[in-house]
Amino acid sequence: MLTQTDKLTALAPMQDVTDLAFMRVLARIGSLPDVFVTAYFRSTPTTCAMAENNLRCIEENETGVPVLAQLAGAEAAPLVRDAEQLLQLPVAGINLNAGCPAPLVNRHGAGAGLLRDLPALQSAVQGLRAVVPAGQFSVKFRTGWESEEELPAILDTIGAAAPDAAMIHGRTRKALYKPDTVSVEAVRLAVQTLACPVMGNGDIATLEQARYWLNHISPAGVMIGRGAVRNPYIFRQIKGGAAPTADEMKHYYRVLVEETDRILHTKRTPAGHCNRMKKYLAYCYADFTPEQEYALRRCTDIDSMLRILCG
Ligand SMILES: Cc1cc2nc3c(=O)[nH]c(=O)nc-3n(C[C@H](O)[C@H](O)[C@H](O)COP(=O)(O)O)c2cc1C
Repeated sequence: MLTQTDKLTALAPMQDVTDLAFMRVLARIGSLPDVFVTAYFRSTPTTCAMAENNLRCIEENETGVPVLAQLAGAEAAPLVRDAEQLLQLPVAGINLNAGCPAPLVNRHGAGAGLLRDLPALQSAVQGLRAVVPAGQFSVKFRTGWESEEELPAILDTIGAAAPDAAMIHGRTRKALYKPDTVSVEAVRLAVQTLACPVMGNGDIATLEQARYWLNHISPAGVMIGRGAVRNPYIFRQIKGGAAPTADEMKHYYRVLVEETDRILHTKRTPAGHCNRMKKYLAYCYADFTPEQEYALRRCTDIDSMLRILCG
């Protein structure tokens, strides 16, 4: 799957956002990417936190779309141990997280922390390459820790492990998620340097942007996160389908309410359900009036929320 020759689309991993509920929503509205990636399983020398929400994305994924299990860790031995465990599950492969900018993760050398310790990055990618079957190992990384001048050495390190695919978020760790900091040139360099297919990622939010990336920046594929939460029909559009109508957007919000309800199940409370919805709506508020956004942010009852979302 990772080595398919057609252009690939992937839903970007986003903890508690691009989760099982959202994967099911994409299936129900008929706008699926080619691959899902779980949010990271945190791998440490003592344990791998088998986060229930991430496990459900694997074990209850009935969408037909392959899912990669993502690991974030700083040391090869625990990463290898946990990759071997995750490979027992119905996953299409293992994805190493070398991009997470969270201080708590970076402090221990994991996520983007690997980018400022190339020997650790080397041992992580080489270790995983040795145990993950052919066609199933990928790395998601940023353009550098401080500066994209670090990128050539990062690409050498990753390339030497011969991953089957790579996803590059075109920002440094220092840039966090700041607007206008995605470097198209850095993504192009990764595409030109690595022998494997490279998917571009970062602020792709419209069909026009996705097409531009596929035609001029990252021809192997694009990975979309926040843009897909705001417009989940983007995967359908990239494959030649129509832009969503206003009714389809209302259908999306209704289905999202239903699927979050299904996920929460016995843990559901009216306020808890609204809070869960707000994790997705954080990326949708720009499509509402300031008054609607204000009301949505304060909602504690799902019927009122639905009335605002769907009129
Ligand atoms: C709330 C949130 C959670 C995220 N969690 C992860 C994660 O678990 N693993 C990962 O590799 N990237 C994670 N990311 C980064 C996204 O996968 C993606 O690289 C980033 O949002 C840029 O892409 P976008 O502009 O299409 O959203 C997260 C981003 C956000 C906003």
